[in-house]
Amino acid sequence: MTQPDLFGESFARAGVAILRGFALTDDIALVAAIDAIVAEAPFRHMMVPGGGRMSVAMTNAGIGWVADTRGYRYDRADPLSGQLWPDMPPIFVDLAHRAAREAGFDFSPDGCLINRYEPGAKMGLHQDINEGDYSAPIVSVSLGLPATFQFGGLKRGDPVEKITLHHGDVVVWGGPARKSFHGVLTLKAGHHAIGGHRYNLTFRKVL
Ligand code: SIN
Ligand code: FE2
Repeated sequence: MTQPDLFGESFARAGVAILRGFALTDDIALVAAIDAIVAEAPFRHMMVPGGGRMSVAMTNAGIGWVADTRGYRYDRADPLSGQLWPDMPPIFVDLAHRAAREAGFDFSPDGCLINRYEPGAKMGLHQDINEGDYSAPIVSVSLGLPATFQFGGLKRGDPVEKITLHHGDVVVWGGPARKSFHGVLTLKAGHHAIGGHRYNLTFRKVL
């Protein structure tokens, strides 16, 4: 795997690349693509098996990640509408492919989870382990308000690094880091040209 010279905040771990500003030139097109997806498949707060409601609002393109009180799964259909999730727009696939290549991976995503964080929303430490293909990395794009990303190890109790992710930053993790625990601390209120929230696009190879 190539190690791009793009690590920020002295964060260096095999299989992880932080590509600062990688999505900046596409930001307006990405937000327009999110808006088009949301017009078909609105953001919603999913329930989790414990019975809680996620503070992060979600929708999907391509093969969709779904949580409910029975568990977590991938589904081609949106349970709210019974219709297929919207297709992944070409700009999503292209950006994820280019970012992964920068980090040394050949990646063709088939699913994108779209997260919207309003101030106060957070995501607890978890692993992305509902996918069928762990040889593919995760590509994660940040837009809007900055957030503190927590990146840990392969065990829940491993130490975590805190990394501030800004509008346009892309994080890629794969190979030995593919099943790393990660999460997002409570989003602070603020102002950003795209609105008072943060979007995160998480690209996966599900099948
Ligand atoms: C996720 O793990 O699905 C989201 C990560 C993020 O919002 O940066
Ligand atoms: Fe995740």
